[in-house]
Parts: sequence; structure tokens; C-alpha cells
Amino acid sequence: MNRLLPSLPIGALLLGAACAKPPEPGEPLAGLDKAQRDQFDRGKVIFNRVFEPETGLGPLFNAKSCGECHESPVAGGVGEEVEVHATALFPDGFCDPLADLGGFVYQQEVTPALKSALGIDKEPIPAKATAQGRRSSPDILGFGLLDAVPDSEILSYADPDDRNHDGISGRPNRFFDGRLGRFGRKALVPTLKEFNEGAFPVEIGVTVPTVPDEGTIGGQPIPAGVDPLPEPELDADSVALVNAFVRFQAPPSPPKLKGAARRGPELFEKIGCAACHVPRLKTGDSDVKALAHREVAAYTDLLLHDMGPALADICLGLASPSEFRTEPLMGLRFSEKFLHDGRAASIEEAIRLHAGEAAASQGRFAALPQADREALLAFLKVL
Ligand code: HEC
Ligand code: HEC
Repeated sequence: MNRLLPSLPIGALLLGAACAKPPEPGEPLAGLDKAQRDQFDRGKVIFNRVFEPETGLGPLFNAKSCGECHESPVAGGVGEEVEVHATALFPDGFCDPLADLGGFVYQQEVTPALKSALGIDKEPIPAKATAQGRRSSPDILGFGLLDAVPDSEILSYADPDDRNHDGISGRPNRFFDGRLGRFGRKALVPTLKEFNEGAFPVEIGVTVPTVPDEGTIGGQPIPAGVDPLPEPELDADSVALVNAFVRFQAPPSPPKLKGAARRGPELFEKIGCAACHVPRLKTGDSDVKALAHREVAAYTDLLLHDMGPALADICLGLASPSEFRTEPLMGLRFSEKFLHDGRAASIEEAIRLHAGEAAASQGRFAALPQADREALLAFLKVL
């Protein structure tokens, strides 16, 4: 026993305890330096900036700010907006993202100038599309850690030919240039930076230096005069600050497990949920110390799984219509609607809609004694 301990000033002990407290939702990661915290604060302002046509909004858009869709309970959280994606699947298996026809995100709003020029109130979906998908707005807290997970860690969970015969054959999606994908419900986009930068033109109609083009309106050129601002409509420094804000968001604080919920992790493992929703991933090297070599309680393998025909919608990259990325359960406590299009009104309903590769696990969930099912749900609710 350290005899010096009792003589430590009580203030120092309290201070130590305060520092160890994990960040609340909406706060930055622990361990950032002052410059990084400053970028986080300034980035948050731009994440919540409301764009208008005079400042770059549109001519097509889904919402006027990042924070309009990622808002609850804090900036970076979930939102009620559900957007529309469409692609074309050819008989030979090729998936066309319809990039030359305005795809694969079809904006649901237009600026007044575009409305008066073309008389439309959303972007038309071309006849060539073979399927549409609806996407609810997810939370993105802690996603800087997901971004820092090395490809090798994700690939170590892949089992495309189901060699271990557990009926689960996760496989990676690949971006158009062959890089491993991980962001979005179909895991198409390789990096957080590219997702964020793509979201400006796609969601808000605001062009950025890496995506300086407004694209087309369902394949037709934008009529003269409806988009007067020169591209890019947002400068590189502002985009970098938004990247820092998203990247430096702390993950949801560790769940407080009380009563029956304490048995949740074991049941989750036992009935095979953890085969896809891998409880912990490890990050690799990073130029940001707070992101390097950490564990993130993500509950995902970031791989694609076939979830059966009832959930199927669009193809995207290598993902077939019925394949989706294992949704991270990190932050589940913030959601009120579940699955890629928000069709499930409760966590229990979301589990019951698991089919395909997840059918066996779903069956084991349904067969649990009610007290165990309730214990598992109590655990999931606080993730
Ligand atoms: C109209 C609502 C809307 C707006 C505005 C919006 N997002 Fe999103 N965001 C979504 C939806 C819907 C998804 C899921 C897309 C998918 O599954 O393919 C998403 C996904 C994401 C993801 C990936 C999450 C994951 O699960 O992999 C990131 C990161 C992100 N958004 C950042 C941003 C940033 C940064 C902005 C502002 C530039 C922004 N979003 C603006 C609706 C929105
Ligand atoms: C074969 C892989 C696999 C298994 C096994 C699996 N899941 Fe999933 N889970 C997924 C995929 C993929 C999604 C996303 C599906 C979608 O959005 O349509 C998902 C989504 C969810 C969601 C909704 C998350 C959200 O934010 O919308 C919950 C909750 C969930 N799973 C819990 C479970 C539980 C509990 C188990 C065990 C009984 C389980 N899952 C087993 C792959 C799996």
C-alpha cells in the first residue's frame, strides 16, 4: 500500500476522476491537442451552416445543412430525413450507378430558380434505373475511429466462400477504383473524407474543390442562370474543418449496463449476432494520436452480407440488391427507426426482419426464453 496516497490533495484526485470521464455525445474525442479541438469547434459551425441559393445551395438538394439530417440528440446524430437512391443492374451482373444520369442519389428538393426554369420539384429518376432504395439518416458519432481501422482488420473477418460453414459469408465491397469500401449502407465509399466531401454536392448542392461539378438533372444540363455562383461554392479550408469535426467526434460513451442488460453481451455472442456485428474493432496507425491504436465498440465487421429478398433494393459497386453492410450498432441508443430505410419501428422488429445469412441467428433470437430476449434488447437499447 502506498503510504503517500492519503496525503495527496483531494482536489488532485477529483481532477483525475473528471479527466477519466468519457466524453458525452457531441463532445470531441479525449486526447486531442488544442489545435485539433479548435478545428472540431470551427468545423461544427460549418457542419450546421444553413446554405441558401445565394451561398451555394442547389440547384438540386436534399437539405440545407449537414446538421439538418445528422441532428439528434447532437450534431452528428440521427435525422428523420429519408433519401432516395437508384441504380441499374444489368443481366450480366454489372451495376451502373447512373452517374451520367444524375445518380445514384436523386435529390428531393430544387431551388426556386430551377423550379421556374424546368417546372420540376425533385430530380427525375431515369427509366434506365432498375431499382430504388430509401435511406434513413444515420448517426456518425465515432466514425473517425471506423475510418482508422486498417483494411487488413476488416478483411480478416471476410469469409466470402463460407469456409467455416457457419452460413455467414461476409465479403468486402470495392469502390470503382478497386479500393476497399466501408461507408454508406452498401459500404461503397473507402474513406470518411471522401464521404464528407461527396455529401456537400450530393446532399446540399454545394460544390467543393474535390467535387467541383454540380452534375446534371437526371442527365440533362443545368439550365443557364439557375446556378450563378462560380464553383467551388465552398473553399478547401472550410471543407477540411468539417472533415475534422466529423473525424474527431467521440464515439457514444460506453453503455451503462444495469440489471438483466448485463447478460446482453453474452447472449449476443451466444446466438451469433457477433458473427457480423463484431463487438470491437482496432484502429491502426493514424496521424491523430487520439485515433491511433484504439478499440472501438462498433458492433460491425464493415462487410457486406446477404440479408434476403425482403430487404433487397439497389445494387451498388459489388453489392447485390440484397447485400448490406453490417450496420454498426454503436449509437443504437439514438435511433427511433431501424434498418436501411427505417422500416422497423423497434429494435426487436429489426432483428425479426433479419433473413438470408442472418436467418439462423434470427431463429435463435426468436427461440430464446422471453427473459433472455428482454435482457438482450435491454442491452441493445443502450449501445
Ligand atoms: C438529406 C439528409 C442528409 C444530409 C443533408 C447529409 N447527410 Fe450524411 N447521410 C445521410 C444518409 C441518408 C446517409 C446514409 C447513406 C447510405 O446509407 O448510403 C448518410 C451517411 C453519412 C455518412 C456515412 C455514414 C455511414 O453509416 O457510413 C457520413 C460520414 C455523412 N453522412 C456525413 C455527412 C456530412 C459531412 C454532411 C454535410 C456535408 C451530410 N452527411 C449531409 C443523410 C444526410
Ligand atoms: C449475417 C450478418 C448478421 C447477423 C448474424 C446479424 N445481423 Fe444485425 N444487421 C446485419 C445487417 C447487414 C444489417 C443492416 C440491414 C439493413 O439495414 O437493412 C443489420 C442491422 C441490425 C440492426 C438495425 C440497426 C440500425 O441502426 O438500423 C439491429 C438492431 C441488429 N442488426 C441487431 C442484430 C442482432 C441482435 C443480431 C443477433 C440476433 C443480429 N443483428 C445478427 C447483419 C447481421
